[in-house]
Amino acid sequence: MTALRGEFRSRLGFIFAAAGSAVGLGNIWGFPTQAASNGGAAFLITYLVLAFLLAYPALMAELLIGRHTHRNMVMALGSLSDDPRTQRAGQLTGVLGLLTASLILSFYAIVAGWMLGYGASYPLGAMGSESTENWLNTFAASRNLTLMLIFMALTMAVVLGGVEKGIERWSRRLMPLLLITLVALALYVLTLEGATTGLAVYLLPDFSKVLSSDFLIDALGSAFFSLSLGVGTMLIYGSYLSDTEHVPTVGAQVALMDIGIAILAGFLILPAMYVADARGVAIFNEAGGLLSEDTLIFSVMPALFATLDTSGTWLATAFFMLMSIAALTSSISMLEVPVAYLIERHGLTRASATTWAGGIIATFSGLIVLNFDTLFGLVVTISTRYSQPLLGIAVCVFAGWVWRRDALLSELQKADASAEHSLFWQVWPIYVRWICPVIISVILLQSLV
Ligand code: TRP
Repeated sequence: MTALRGEFRSRLGFIFAAAGSAVGLGNIWGFPTQAASNGGAAFLITYLVLAFLLAYPALMAELLIGRHTHRNMVMALGSLSDDPRTQRAGQLTGVLGLLTASLILSFYAIVAGWMLGYGASYPLGAMGSESTENWLNTFAASRNLTLMLIFMALTMAVVLGGVEKGIERWSRRLMPLLLITLVALALYVLTLEGATTGLAVYLLPDFSKVLSSDFLIDALGSAFFSLSLGVGTMLIYGSYLSDTEHVPTVGAQVALMDIGIAILAGFLILPAMYVADARGVAIFNEAGGLLSEDTLIFSVMPALFATLDTSGTWLATAFFMLMSIAALTSSISMLEVPVAYLIERHGLTRASATTWAGGIIATFSGLIVLNFDTLFGLVVTISTRYSQPLLGIAVCVFAGWVWRRDALLSELQKADASAEHSLFWQVWPIYVRWICPVIISVILLQSLV
């Protein structure tokens, strides 16, 4: 059976794919400004600690369940227990996971389409096609729809290739490109006037900010989104991992890469914002905080690029290419969740599973585009604020309470004969059993009130 499934050919291929899933729009448009507004280096240190104490164990729960069962989320969670009712609860959780992954993709593809559009508009504008440039940069249903469909087509094309020839191959190509582009852009921006002010804002530690409970809750929420947890993306990637790999180590490498790229993005975003500031571009909101997220990407950065003439065109193209790559390596991991289910549970070929899942998600995404004001924010909130943390709790409960400890140990022993004596074995089971569900519940409750 395993032979029929895909499997990552190399450890590096897996790490690039899983880190590609984790590194996405959130790392670049959210993390750096969040860090700068919340205590700089003090935020970075706290975030690192939180990510390793709480998000990493949840990541391990998904990777280990996936690797153990070598199945999609629905069948994996449905097979951890012998009790029919627990099995059904597992399947239901899996179905909710794949619906949530699909919902996240339906709004993510719209935003990612804008990245493609902005990326193409700069070279087109430089070549003189002004009307196309304007069309690509102006918010309108027809543009949003076209770009979303192009982005979905790209995502489907990669997933169609399967695990080795699609996901792994493209992650191995795109992730190094992302890293190089990010470093090159940061190095260039750091030479411009005003950049060092941005660096200081980003890094000077202010520990008074990070001790507030609001802050801790925010940071944890973003760690969960950033590591793509709860909806089965990491579970399905884990299921394609070879039995010879030591999961706690590769999981730590994935988490480190996600956090590392988020921190690195700060070396581009904060200096760029203060370069823009020095050139008269507004970078603060009315409350005096730094502009972030979509305003940062689609107003502040373009205003900065506009002040830089020819080099601005190059920078802008590279920057939006970076954003598009970050989005694509994440979107393929979301689409793989329903696709793997359709293949393994309903016997579809990869081609028809990709067409059906991609087609349905694109249709729903189109609905969001056409009812943007009512649906967009709603879908984001339902999928990421409520559904994702709830499912995160469920996955931890399955790993900590349903999965038998001897089965878990034998899973760890596949790649490490002395796993019984490892620190991981002594700490992690208690963590997923007690600490993760409790903390995630607290975050969720706090976000409700
Ligand atoms: N982690 C990605 C980001 O930071 C987004 C992402 C990919 C995701 N797969 C996911 C988020 C699954 C939630 C669930 O942008």
